[in-house]
Amino acid sequence: LPASDALAGTEPPAVIAHRGASAYAPENTLAAVDKAADLGISWVENDVQRTKDGELVVVHDDNLKRTTDVEQVFPDRAPWKVKDFTAAEIARLDAGSWFDPAYAGARVPTLEQFADRLELHHQKLLLEIKNPDLYPGIERQTLKVLDDAGWLDPHHLASRLIVQSFSADSIRTVHSLKPAVKTGFLGTPPAADLAGYAAFADQINPSYSSISRRYVASVHTFTGPHGRPLEVFTWTVNDADTARLVAGYGVDGIITNNPDVVRDTLPEE
Ligand code: G3P
Ligand code: CA
Repeated sequence: LPASDALAGTEPPAVIAHRGASAYAPENTLAAVDKAADLGISWVENDVQRTKDGELVVVHDDNLKRTTDVEQVFPDRAPWKVKDFTAAEIARLDAGSWFDPAYAGARVPTLEQFADRLELHHQKLLLEIKNPDLYPGIERQTLKVLDDAGWLDPHHLASRLIVQSFSADSIRTVHSLKPAVKTGFLGTPPAADLAGYAAFADQINPSYSSISRRYVASVHTFTGPHGRPLEVFTWTVNDADTARLVAGYGVDGIITNNPDVVRDTLPEE
């Protein structure tokens, strides 16, 4: 059973490639999606932000310095914020060489390009709305891009898409705009607050360093907006020992840069 159909905490956790298979290919690029597919990993996490001219792009930081050659291409445009560059400008950047020269020429993908590549591989998307306070209306726009790309088809929706954010307001907005879309809150709310989150979030997705077996069990006692126990996808677990530890806590998903390592550590379904 896919994690979404299983009783929370009773199946081996889903394995989610964090920013793609980002230990092996440059994060949040189509190459990192392809690498996850090559490894047989069906779930991919990404980070979505918006350009100056309103295009949704897949990039983690709010500036382009760490993961592209923006400082060389546009030396006069400090501090190189995503929101200050057009989509055409961002499309010129090399998002692969910083990771490994073998990936020279990799690009910052648009959300549409990223979703299309996942579709090609029959993969699933854990989409993070990153820095939503910088991008008013990004929730509605994200849903529109996904809808146009066929990702809101009701037959597949629940099994292949989750939208998450560190911003409770952002996922509350996603839930009210499109209640059928599964949502996840990134963080570790106190147990006393979980009932409030369960009104609009299907998942509570905490850092692995902040959880215990008891915390995961307490999350599972709440019922989410789709009538199922709240799930826990934890991040970012990159080694076998930690993967075994959190699997023992009963988490429903493990978000990892090394999805093959985590997958090979877990018991077979
Ligand atoms: O998916 C969870 C994880 O990605 C949250 O942290 O900084 O990697 O986006 P970050
Ligand atoms: Ca993320």
